[in-house]
Amino acid sequence: MTNELHSYDNLHVLFIAAEADPLVKAGGLGDVAGSLPVALNNIDDGKNLEIKIAIPFYNSIKQKNLPVTKVSDFEIDIIGGKVSGEIFSITISNLSFYLISGEPIARFDETYSSDFRSDAEKFVFFSLACLQLPDILKWRCDILHAHDWHTAVAIHHLKMNRHPSTYLENTQTVITVHNLPFMGTGSEDALRQYNVTPSRNKNLPAWARELPLPMGLAAADQIVAVSPTYAKEILTPEFGCDLQGFLQTRQSKVTGILNGIDPELWNPSSDPAIFSNFDSSHLDEKLKNKRALLKEFQLDFEEYTPLAIMITRMDRQKGIDIALEGLRMINDLPWQTILLGTGDKRLEQECKALEQEMPEKVRAIITFDTDLSRRMYAAADIMMMPSRYEPCGLSQMFAMRYGCLPVARATGGLVDSITDPKTGSIGPGFLFSRIDPRSFAQTMKRAFDAYCSSSTWKSMQLEAMSRDFSWQRSAEQYLILYQNLINQSD
Ligand code: GLC
Repeated sequence: MTNELHSYDNLHVLFIAAEADPLVKAGGLGDVAGSLPVALNNIDDGKNLEIKIAIPFYNSIKQKNLPVTKVSDFEIDIIGGKVSGEIFSITISNLSFYLISGEPIARFDETYSSDFRSDAEKFVFFSLACLQLPDILKWRCDILHAHDWHTAVAIHHLKMNRHPSTYLENTQTVITVHNLPFMGTGSEDALRQYNVTPSRNKNLPAWARELPLPMGLAAADQIVAVSPTYAKEILTPEFGCDLQGFLQTRQSKVTGILNGIDPELWNPSSDPAIFSNFDSSHLDEKLKNKRALLKEFQLDFEEYTPLAIMITRMDRQKGIDIALEGLRMINDLPWQTILLGTGDKRLEQECKALEQEMPEKVRAIITFDTDLSRRMYAAADIMMMPSRYEPCGLSQMFAMRYGCLPVARATGGLVDSITDPKTGSIGPGFLFSRIDPRSFAQTMKRAFDAYCSSSTWKSMQLEAMSRDFSWQRSAEQYLILYQNLINQSD
C-alpha cells in the first residue's frame, strides 16, 4: 500500500451515480459525482486517466434537448422476459457522460419518486445496464466506482457473475457512502425480478442481504466514506444503522476522504448570481449583499444584528427542528434568519410557523433555488448546521468561501472542515456536540458575541475565506486508492 501518487498507465474508471451536476442535481451527491471526475481529470491532465460517467437519462434531462449521440441499444433479462433500453452519450467539460434510458427510468418524472418500489426497479435496471457499458464500448474498465445505494447493486452483481471474456475481467470496485441510512428499502422484488441473487456474506445481518447498499458494501474492494470522521462513525452503534458489526469486519477496507468543492464555481469575487462581488481584501462589499438580500425579503437592516441562514434539504437529518427550537430560546436577542429548502412537508410547515411567529425576524422560503442560495451565502453572517449526522456536508464549505461562518454540530465532515476558536487556534466556525436545542442556542450566543467584536469576526472571516476546500487533495487520495487497488490485483 502506498500513500503517494505514482505514475500509472492508462487507468480506466467508470463512475456510476444517480445524479451528476450539471445534468441533474438533487443534493450533495450530484455535486460530488459532477465535480470529482473533473478534479481527477485536472490532476492527470487527461493523459493517463480516462473517466466515463453513467447516469440515468431522466425525463428532466431529456427535456433539455441536449445534443446527445445514440451509442447503442441493450436488453436486460428479467424473469419471464426482457427489458430494453438505449444508451446515449454527451461530452461536457471534457468528460464523457453516458445516459441510460429505458421504461423503468422514464416511468416517473422525478429523479427520486415517492414510490420506493419503482425507484428500486429504476436503479436495479440502471445498475445492471452500467455493467453492459464496457462491453458495448469495447472499453476495459479497471475501476468501477459506485455511489450510494442506487448503484451498489452493480458492484454486487459484478462480483457474483464475473465473466472472463468481458471488459470487466479484472475490474476493481469502489463504493462511496454519502448517506448510510438510505439502503434501498423495498428492493427485494426488483432484485428477484432482475435475477440478482442476495448477498452470501455471513457477516451481514439477514435483513440486509437483499438491500442494495449492504450488498454493495459486502462486495466492494474498497469502501469510502465522504469524510474521515464519518468513516469512523459508521463503525459505531450511534451512526452504523445496525451495520456497524458487519462494517467492523470490513474495517480494513473502509477509509474516509473528505469531499471538495469547485473553488471557481463558488467564488464570491466572480459569482454572477450575487449582488456585489467581493474578496478578502474588500470584505465591506459583503455588506452590500446583506442590505440587498434583507431588502429583497422586506427585513430591516440593523448594524449589529447578525443574519443567520440555513440552506438545506428539509430532512430530520439536518436538525431543522433543533434550529427552530433553539432560535425560540434566544428570541430576546437581536438576530434575523432566512431558511431555504424543500423536503419533508411537516418540517417545511414548522419553518413557516416560525416565520408567522416572528415576521420581523424570520423568512422561510420553501423552494429549491441555487441562485438564491448564492445570494444568501454572500449576504449572511452565520450558517446554521445543527445536523444529527452529516457524512460530509458541503454548505459549510460554500459558506466559508463567502465569509459566512458556520455554527454546526460536531459530527462527520463538519468536524473535518470546521475549527472552533475554543480549540485554541483561531477557527472559522463554532461547533457543539450535544443534539439539543439548548446546546445549539448557547453556541449561537457564542457566535453572536464574536460577531459584536468586529475585529474578531473579521479575522475569523478572513481565515474562513482562505481555507482550501478544493478537490485537489481529495482527488489525489482517490487516485492513490485506485492505483493501490490496481497494483494489488496484479
Ligand atoms: C449526502 C450527505 C452529505 C454529503 C453529500 C455529498 O447528501 O448527507 O453530508 O455532503 O451526500 O457526499
